[in-house]
Amino acid sequence: MSTPERPLPGELSLVSVGPASATQGASPPAASPGVGMAATRVPSGPTVPDADHANLTLAVSRYVNELFGAPAVTPPASPSSSPTASDASGASPAPSLPDRPESVDAPSQMPTTAPTSLPATPTRPERYEGENPFFTAPRFDAVALESPVEFRVDLLDHGQRPPHAPSPPSAPSAPAEPSPRSPAIAHEINPITDVTVPSTGGPIDGHVLKREFPILSERVHGKQLVWLDNAATTQKPRTVIERLQTYYERENSNIHRAAHALAARATDAYEAARESVRRFVNATSVRDVVFVRGTTEGINLVAQSWGRRNVSAGDEIVLTHLEHHANIVPWQMLCAETGAKLRVAPVDDRGDIVLDAYERLLNDRTKIVALPQVSNALGTVTPAREMIAMAHRHGAKVLLDGAQSVSHMRQDVQQLGCDFFVFSGHKVFAPTGIGAVIARADLLDEMPPWQGGGNMIADVTFEKTVFQPAPARFEAGTGNIADAVGLGAALDWLTRLGIENVERYEHSLLEYGTQRLLEVPGLRIIGCAREKAGVLSFVIDGHSTHDLSTYLDKQGIAVRGGHHCAQPILRRFGLESTVRASLAPYNTREDLDALVEALLRRTGGGGW
Ligand code: ALA
Repeated sequence: MSTPERPLPGELSLVSVGPASATQGASPPAASPGVGMAATRVPSGPTVPDADHANLTLAVSRYVNELFGAPAVTPPASPSSSPTASDASGASPAPSLPDRPESVDAPSQMPTTAPTSLPATPTRPERYEGENPFFTAPRFDAVALESPVEFRVDLLDHGQRPPHAPSPPSAPSAPAEPSPRSPAIAHEINPITDVTVPSTGGPIDGHVLKREFPILSERVHGKQLVWLDNAATTQKPRTVIERLQTYYERENSNIHRAAHALAARATDAYEAARESVRRFVNATSVRDVVFVRGTTEGINLVAQSWGRRNVSAGDEIVLTHLEHHANIVPWQMLCAETGAKLRVAPVDDRGDIVLDAYERLLNDRTKIVALPQVSNALGTVTPAREMIAMAHRHGAKVLLDGAQSVSHMRQDVQQLGCDFFVFSGHKVFAPTGIGAVIARADLLDEMPPWQGGGNMIADVTFEKTVFQPAPARFEAGTGNIADAVGLGAALDWLTRLGIENVERYEHSLLEYGTQRLLEVPGLRIIGCAREKAGVLSFVIDGHSTHDLSTYLDKQGIAVRGGHHCAQPILRRFGLESTVRASLAPYNTREDLDALVEALLRRTGGGGW
C-alpha cells in the first residue's frame, strides 16, 4: 500500500489485520477468526471523532462501502514475500484492503500507514464488490486517544470470501473493471460499547501548556507577551490552528449539498464538530446543537424565534444585574416589540445574586429567565442550577449564558436543566465567529426559523416553504464550516486536558492572584463572590483604568480596561470601568507576578 507523504490528521486508515487476536488492546470477539479492521489517526485533531460512534460509524461504513463496493481498482504490485497477519498466524487469509482509488467518493482520503500496534500491513489488495455481506455485530473494542483507534468487525463467513465477491485479480496489474457502487449502509454498523472521551491530562502546568499556544511566545513592545485578557477571547492551541489548516488544505467545500468527495469530507468534519459540542455539554442529541456565530447571535436567535412566538404584552422576562449587554439588549428589543417587561434580579455587595429577591420576581407572567453562569465583569459563578429550578417551578423557560463559563467548568446541560444554553467558541480556545445554542430538539422544532435561506428548507415552491427540523432550520445559508470544525477540535482538546484539571488549576491561580493584587496600594477588587471563576476585576485609587491598562500593555501584559460590555453591573458598584485580568489554564503565577509588579511600579508601590 502506498504511504502518503503526510498523513491526514484524524482520518482513518483501515488495515486488515487477520485474526482478531492480532490486534492490541482489544479482546477478540468470541467467534471471530475473521477480519480485523483497524482505524488510526494522528493526534493533531480528528476529522472523524474517534470516540464518537455515530460519526466514526458513518465514516467507517462509508469507507468500507467504498472499499468493498467501489469501482474496481488496480492494486499496486506489492511484495508478496511480506507475510500478512493472517499468514503469520496460520489462519485463513483475511481479505486485504485495496488502496483507495483517488476517484472514490470516500469521506476522506485515507492514510495507509498501519497503526504501530498492528502486526503487519496487508500487502496484496483484493477487489470486492456488491453489497457488504461482511459485517455483522460490529464492535468498537478499544478507543484510545493519541494512539491508534481500533475497532473490529466480524466476518459473516469467518474469513471466507463472501458469496458474491469476485475472485481476486489474477495478477496485480489486471486492468480495472468498473463495478456499480453500493449505497452507503451506515446503519448496518452499530457500535455496541459506550465510549466517552477520557481526560488524559493530569494536573496542569501552565508553563508546559503555554508551549501549545504559538502566540504566547510573541513579544509585544519588546516584552514577552502575558495574555490576561481571556474573558475577552482565549488564545488558540496549535491543534486548533492545524485543524483549520488541514480543513482548508484538504477538505474545504460547502456541506450537505454535493456528492463529491470534498463535500463529504467537509460535511463529516462539520457534523463531527456538532457531535463534539454535544458531548462537551452533554446534550442528549446532535439535533440539540445549533451552530451560530457566538453567544450574542445565540441569544438573539432565542429572543427572536422563541421569544416572538411565546412572549406578549404583560409578560415578564427576568434577567440579573450581572448581565453582559448581549443578554440585555435582545430582550429589551423583544420587550419593545411585544410590550413585555424586563425584571432584574439584584446582586449584593460581593457580586452574588440575591436569591430571595430573584425568587420574588418569578410569577406566572414570567415567560423566560436569562442569566449568566459566570459574570464576565466580576467572575461571579451564579447558582445556575438552583435558579433554573426556581424558574421552572413558575413555568418559565431558562436561557443560560455560558460565554464565560464554558472554558472554566464542566458543562452538563441535562443536569443544569436549562432550556437554552449558549456559548461562543472563541472563549473556549476555538476560532471567532462560531458558537452554539443548545436546546432540546423538540423545543427547537416548535420554534419558527428566524432567518430564511438555503440549507434550512425541506422544500420550496413560490407558494410555500417547508422547513427542515432542528438544527438545520436555524442554520440558513452557508455557515462557518471551518470554524465549527475548529470548535470541535478545541473542545476535544479541552476534554483531553480535563476540565476539572482546568478548574482546579485556575482556582489556585485566582487565589494567588487575589492575594498578590492586594499588595498594591489603593487597589480594590470588584467582585468577591462566594464562588468565582477566572476574573480579577479591580480599580486603583488615583489611577484611571485606561492609564493602567495602557501602561500594562507597554509591559507586554494584555488586560481589558473598560466597562466589559456590562455597564449595569459596574454602575451597581459605582463605577464606569475596571481593569480586568482574566485567566486561562496557560497562565502561570509568574504571569500574575508580572501583573502585580507592573502595577506596583506604576503606582509607586515598589516592584522590580
Ligand atoms: N464579552 C467579552 C468580554 O467580556 C468581549 O470582554
